[in-house]
Amino acid sequence: MPIPLLDALIAGDRAAVAELAGYRIPAEFPNAGALKLVRYRREQIANDGSWAPWSLRAIVLREGASMVGYVNFHGPPGVNDTATPNAVELGWTVFPHRRKKGYATETARALMDWAATEHGISRFISSTTPNNAPSLRVHDKLGFVRTGQVVDGEIIFELRR
Ligand SMILES: CC(C)(COP(=O)(O)OP(=O)(O)OC[C@H]1O[C@@H](n2cnc3c(N)ncnc32)[C@H](O)[C@@H]1OP(=O)(O)O)[C@@H](O)C(=O)NCCC(=O)NCCS
Repeated sequence: MPIPLLDALIAGDRAAVAELAGYRIPAEFPNAGALKLVRYRREQIANDGSWAPWSLRAIVLREGASMVGYVNFHGPPGVNDTATPNAVELGWTVFPHRRKKGYATETARALMDWAATEHGISRFISSTTPNNAPSLRVHDKLGFVRTGQVVDGEIIFELRR
């Protein structure tokens, strides 16, 4: 999501959002939690423009061009829960009525492919709470394994390619 779009989302300027996005962003996005994330990621890019490619991306359906969720890395390589050098950490959200269609799994795979091809990344970190069954299942499907670490109550997973 380019900077002007992030700014329009933060400002609540829905006309600008619609024009800048080129795909349909549901009115429910960003909710309060997502708005906090949008602001946080926008601030990071303002501090260091090189973070932009690692920042927020919309998950958009090829057919119908609707946003169904969003995904981001925590930052460039090395910025992750375990401070592992050259590793990147992923986070994903699919809007509630769009879940269980494989979108999170497909998106995570595509983003890891991008990081591997464009930036030579071969270590991926992810974390989730023990009671988040859908997210645990996504980790399994992607081939993530538990490292045994827990950070802020979240189980840490790693995938090496
Ligand atoms: C986690 C999340 C991104 C998954 O998105 P999604 O697009 O539905 O994921 P996928 O369709 O690729 O895979 C979900 C898997 O979990 C399974 N699942 C869903 N609900 C489940 C439940 N309550 N218990 C067990 N498995 C469940 C689905 O059946 C599917 O597995 P399958 O392909 O073997 O059938 C989505 O639930 C979400 O946005 N949750 C809120 C945000 C969040 O928790 N993000 C992760 C933080 S680390």
